[in-house]
Amino acid sequence: MNLVVLGAQWGDEGKGKLIDIVSRDADITVRYQGGNNAGHTVVVSNKEYIFHLLPSAILHKGKVCVIGNGVVVDPRALLEEMAALKKRGLNVTPRCLKISDRCHVVMPYHRVLDGLRETKRKNKIGTTGRGIGPCYADKVTRCGIRMVDLLNPKVLKEKLQDNLNEKNEVFNKVFHHKAYSFIGIYNEYLGYGKKLGSYICDTMLYLNKAIGQKKSVLFEGAQGTFLDIDFGTYPFVTSSNSTVGGVCVGSGVAPTKIDKVIACVKAYTTRVGEGPFPTEFSKRLMEEIRTKGNEFGATTGRPRRCGWFDSVLVRYAVIVNGVSDLAIMKLDVLDDLRKIKICTAYRYRGKVYKEFPTDFEVLSHAEPVYEEMDGWMMPTSGIRSYRRLPRNARKYIERLEQLLKVGVKYISIGTKRDEIIVR
Ligand code: IMO
Ligand code: MG
Repeated sequence: MNLVVLGAQWGDEGKGKLIDIVSRDADITVRYQGGNNAGHTVVVSNKEYIFHLLPSAILHKGKVCVIGNGVVVDPRALLEEMAALKKRGLNVTPRCLKISDRCHVVMPYHRVLDGLRETKRKNKIGTTGRGIGPCYADKVTRCGIRMVDLLNPKVLKEKLQDNLNEKNEVFNKVFHHKAYSFIGIYNEYLGYGKKLGSYICDTMLYLNKAIGQKKSVLFEGAQGTFLDIDFGTYPFVTSSNSTVGGVCVGSGVAPTKIDKVIACVKAYTTRVGEGPFPTEFSKRLMEEIRTKGNEFGATTGRPRRCGWFDSVLVRYAVIVNGVSDLAIMKLDVLDDLRKIKICTAYRYRGKVYKEFPTDFEVLSHAEPVYEEMDGWMMPTSGIRSYRRLPRNARKYIERLEQLLKVGVKYISIGTKRDEIIVR
């Protein structure tokens, strides 16, 4: 059985926790897009782990993790993440981690350009500043440097020289930024090639061979549907396909091999960075939920914007990802609320929108149409079976199922591994 877990909102839905749980049944876990802009938090026996590039399943001994070709890899960040795990007693070996030779590499000029481009924009995106956008841009412009190039001094030299010729002019003339020296970057990245060489291989062949041998593969999405470069709230998105299509191009596994798609949603909504957010709370609730849900970015530490559950948004995600099951995360954060709202449509200039609009103006000014429900006003974190959940909590979940036209299979009621209800 090959399974995809992805986010159906704006990222940070709790994918890390769900993957930690479902990856116990998978032989291989694969990241297929994004880079170290992701921040996936897993809590195991009161110890917190945050993963940026490594798949969240790396905590399970004897399993294989793969960084697929669709991921952009910052080797410095990857090595730091591996070193931090080693300090905590977890050795990441080439047997348990495979990195695609086709992954594009985040270079120092990508990270700097990410920040510089933001300064020139009128509407800032609020990126994570990890160089993700510029790295994907180079991939598409066909001047990118790939992991395999770090293993070939001759190819790396030519590609880096070509890049610096162009980039130094842009840095200098457009941004008045100092030029990069070739030799520093060249030696640094050859060094990364030496350190990571034994992890690098053709992961497309590896994965398809494993699938042929009936191994089960779990695909771990990063970001969320509305940060997808095609289907998200463009231009306030990330630079990769975080929707299900990204799995195939980002790993080299065909759609016919995918059995199930599980989408993670929070019981409310959050967003980090800029961009439209119709159901965003006003100040008082924003602070309450942010504190209760500890809504601060796992990558940048920025406070997350919070709002009510938006069923217009998530229904769109259910359609585009062909979602089989939903996982509702952080339900416990709503435990004390007297009233809970669900957005069921938008209104703009007298028109009612039941489907998620593409027009930026509509989306930016859309007024949510809410349905209000009574809260359950009691703690849920200790509950382990669906029927033991308070009646109003079940009503909330069942209403979401009706609106979204898909069943809820997992309900998370806390941060710890065992704080989950499986239906
Ligand atoms: P996980 O995997 C939430 C957001 C950034 C910004 C936009 C573009 O933890 O859910 P980028 O650096 O990707 O060019 O930034 O996307 N963003 C995320 N928001 N969770 C993430 O990952 C995100 N990765 C990127 O805040 O708005
Ligand atoms: Mg995150």
